[in-house]
Formats: sequence, C-alpha cells, structure tokens
Amino acid sequence: MKNLILIAPPGAGKGTQAKMLCKKYNLVHISIGDLLRSQTDLNESLKEKIKKGVLIDDNIIFELLKNRLNKDDIKNGFILDGFPRNLNQAIGLENIIKNIDVVIYLEVPKKELENRIIGRIICSNCGHVYNSLIEKLRPTNNDICDICNSKLEKRIDDTLEVFEKRYDTYIKETQPVLEFYKKQEKLYTINLLDKDEIFNEIVRILK
Ligand code: AP5
Ligand code: MG
Repeated sequence: MKNLILIAPPGAGKGTQAKMLCKKYNLVHISIGDLLRSQTDLNESLKEKIKKGVLIDDNIIFELLKNRLNKDDIKNGFILDGFPRNLNQAIGLENIIKNIDVVIYLEVPKKELENRIIGRIICSNCGHVYNSLIEKLRPTNNDICDICNSKLEKRIDDTLEVFEKRYDTYIKETQPVLEFYKKQEKLYTINLLDKDEIFNEIVRILK
C-alpha cells in the first residue's frame, strides 16, 4: 500500500480528506496536531504555542512522530497530516522513513480558509468534524454530534486572529517544503474546492 503526505494551509481539509482516504484504503491517519491536542498532560508552553499558531520545536515533533511510526499498524500504509511543516522536518523524515510515495498539496484561497476555520466545530467524543457555515457539513442540531450525540466544540486556535498567524507560519515555513517534494517528483497539486471532488482526484492520483 501507499504512504502519503498531505500538505496544505490551515483549514484546507487535510484532516477531512485523510479520514476519507483512511476509510477507503485502510490506512493509518497520523495527524501531528491531533496527537498534540490529545495529550492530556500537554505542558503549558506547548499549549500556548498552539494557541498562538506557531510551530512546536522540531525535536518534540520528531519524538512524537517516531513513537507513532514505531507501531505495527502502519504496515499497511499511512497518511501524514501536518508533517513535515518546514524544511528541517522534511529532511529529517528521510532519515526515519524512506518510502513516501505521494505528496498531495491542497491549494485553497485564503478567504475560503477563513470561512472554514471560523465555522469548524468538532465532536468532543468521536472527533467528527463539522462546519456550521457550510450547509453540506452542518450538524443536524447546532452543537450536538450526529454520530454519537456528544457536544461539539471549537478549537482554541480557530479564531480569525490566530488563523492569520497560522497562515503566515504556513507561507513562511511550510510552503518551501512543496519545492522539496516537487524536485523528488512526488508532488501533486489539487486546486478543487468540493470535498468529494478532491477525494475523487486523490483516488485517481493513487491509481
Ligand atoms: P493542525 O492541527 O495540523 O492544524 P492546521 O495545519 O492549521 O490544519 P487544520 O487542522 O486547522 O485544518 P485541516 O487542513 O485539517 O482542515 P479540516 O479537514 O479540519 O496543527 C495545529 C497546531 O499544532 C499548529 O499550529 C502547531 O502549533 C502544531 N503543529 C502541528 N503539526 C506540527 C508540526 N509538524 N511541527 C510543529 N508544530 C506542529 O477542515 C477545516 C474545516 O473545513 C472543517 O470545518 C471541515 O468540515 C471544512 N471542510 C473540509 N474540507 C472542505 C471542503 N472541501 N469544502 C468546504 N469545507 C471543508
Ligand atoms: Mg487538521
């Protein structure tokens, strides 16, 4: 099976596409952001960094990633969502795992990203992601999950102000990574907007 990387600005749909692809191909979804947020003992300085929209130190991220990639379940393939986020991480990844097959870049206009970030609501129990501003992605009841009836919550970094910082960080630090994978001829750019059309395009690329 294949090992994939999803690179895209905040709110572009990395998590959404990763979940759909994992279901179809039985892959493991490795979201560094989700891994960080799920740590109940996450120290205050890391929480502050996430809240401000800046990157966490590379050594902490490598530790987290190596632990995850050491588990047996990745043997059928995995999707890296939110890694690598700078050139140092991209170069470091080559020393951890050699067989990255495909890198997908989701290109989405900034104005559209703002809308997605401001409307995003996430189930506190099962993690399903909705969007209150996008009809197709709205839950049936405002703040209750359709799947497990638990409460829907906002992320602490999903404000317009923090989005601006996250977007800036993306442009300065993450965008150069695209060139790195372009040179390796692994990069595929998708500039569609509809969730299902993007998914179908990724499926086509994987074939
Ligand atoms: P992370 O959690 O990775 O956040 P992000 O990169 O900002 O991306 P998001 O999760 O916000 O967006 P997404 O692309 O997953 O979109 P989603 O599918 O949810 O990182 C958070 C923080 O952790 C970082 O700021 C940093 O501090 C730290 N961190 C993480 N990785 C790190 C690393 N490698 N190094 C250092 N620090 C790191 O979709 C968004 C919304 O849009 C949802 O409401 C969804 O329903 C909706 N939507 C999805 N697709 C569509 C569509 N096609 N059309 C309309 N709406 C859509
Ligand atoms: Mg995400």
